[in-house]
Amino acid sequence: MQKYLISDLAKYEGQEITLSGWASNKRESKGLVFIVLRDGTGWCQCVVSADVLSAENFEEARKVTLETSLHLTGKVVKDERQIGGYEIQVSQLQIIGESADYPIAKKEHGVDFLMDKRHLWLRAQRQWAIMRVRNQISFAIHQFFQKEGFVQMDAPLFTGNACEGTSNLFETDFYGDPAYLSQSGQLYGEAMAFSMGKIYTFGPTFRAEKSKTRRHLSEFWMIEPEMMFYDIFDNMDLIENFLRFVVTNVLENCAKELETIGRDISVLQNIVKPFPRLTYDEAVSIIKGEKDVNGKNSIVTLEQDLALVQTRIAAINLEIGEREEKIKTPGMKKGEIGFNQAQIDKLKQELADLEEQERNIPQWLQSARNFKYGNDLGGSDETVITRLFEVPIMVYNWPHEVKAFYLKRDPNNQAFARGVDVLAPEGYGEIVGGGERETNVQLLTDKINEHQLPMEAFEWYLDLRRYGTAPHAGFGLGLERLVTWICKLPHVRESIPFPRMYGRLLP
Ligand code: 4AD
Ligand code: MG
Repeated sequence: MQKYLISDLAKYEGQEITLSGWASNKRESKGLVFIVLRDGTGWCQCVVSADVLSAENFEEARKVTLETSLHLTGKVVKDERQIGGYEIQVSQLQIIGESADYPIAKKEHGVDFLMDKRHLWLRAQRQWAIMRVRNQISFAIHQFFQKEGFVQMDAPLFTGNACEGTSNLFETDFYGDPAYLSQSGQLYGEAMAFSMGKIYTFGPTFRAEKSKTRRHLSEFWMIEPEMMFYDIFDNMDLIENFLRFVVTNVLENCAKELETIGRDISVLQNIVKPFPRLTYDEAVSIIKGEKDVNGKNSIVTLEQDLALVQTRIAAINLEIGEREEKIKTPGMKKGEIGFNQAQIDKLKQELADLEEQERNIPQWLQSARNFKYGNDLGGSDETVITRLFEVPIMVYNWPHEVKAFYLKRDPNNQAFARGVDVLAPEGYGEIVGGGERETNVQLLTDKINEHQLPMEAFEWYLDLRRYGTAPHAGFGLGLERLVTWICKLPHVRESIPFPRMYGRLLP
């Protein structure tokens, strides 16, 4: 059993202890081997000295390669300069498992390569931090609902009906009959809410999204609460309290992880501010630039951003050119070449990001200018509007044609349905979709027909309206979308241990 953990080193200052873990880095200098050990709880520099170890044991240390697993015994010494603030002065070392030619070296790899090696990439510090944040988010979600008196329920994954439209169903074979992998546990959650009052599901859901976007997975985890006697406004209050609780909890418990990821937490700290609630109509005016947000206009801001991006690209290209010339200077010191090369690599990284923005912004501009009133918001529209905000926004009252069949028609205006989408700021877009449910059997039946869904598969669902119907509402939070925003990841694929998406089934 592993007795001492890197996360607890402060407790053992001055003592001799044994750590067990993997070498995440190693370098040698005369008579010394420096190993950075990781054990799942943290990282720690371990110094192996030829003066201390037996000659044979020191040779062992020299053999350590990236990701070799080992036991290390030594004294815990405080050293502020080291990651974690402590260092181990090793007296003994034992190799447990060798690791020859670890495929993920320190040099920059492309993301496709890293995704192919996902089973190993998970050991990297940044991935470790993201997965810890994900874990904290899951825990906080359960804490919130349990303290609010919700009962957790598990919805089936084999389903006989479509919940979120028929265009992205994964069909499978259920003893000779067609069945679908669940797109959402909501309809079952509604049934359970009639038993419990307030429930939430927390499980995998599936969407056959045949497109590669930074927002879409084929398999993702959804949290779906459903509350009896809630209307859309109660629902929005709950969503706001819920997201505020989860983000605050992550800020309190994952400061170190967010720092490792490089997340600017000031944006997350805004979570205490009220979430603006906009009707669909208001959201459309903002997207089209007809209405400003805190003095910011969507179209003008995008045009300015594009100009800034282009200026920066020109400056970077100039600097790269200069540095590349410089390192060709005959007789330049190795150290200086290395320094310049590192700067060039960093600039190229920034350039890649900027060039992506240079490609994207004109598309966002075009989609904002040409947005057709009555349409659903696309990814670009969500980006345009949420770049103007520093807190999540709630968009409600949608044209009923673009939303799911189960949403309640707005009693004040039949053209609208009482759906609500929560869009995360900084360009992230939708993280929550939900709304108040239709309780009228006739309106529901009409909608099921309009969506060309097989009525017999929904008879049980209509029963909920036949036997003691009552107002109720709920929502679905996409776990990966929330992790992606909280960690400010460029793509949803890094928010889940083993992503399943169009073109990716392995590892
Ligand atoms: O908006 P959606 O489709 O709503 C529902 O499924 C409702 N039944 C929820 C409810 O009211 N109980 O999906 C809900 C959320 C989205 O806001 C998004 O965060 C996430 O699920 N989501 C996806 N996440 C990753 N990849 C995909 N392909 C996703 N599709 C939806
Ligand atoms: Mg949605």
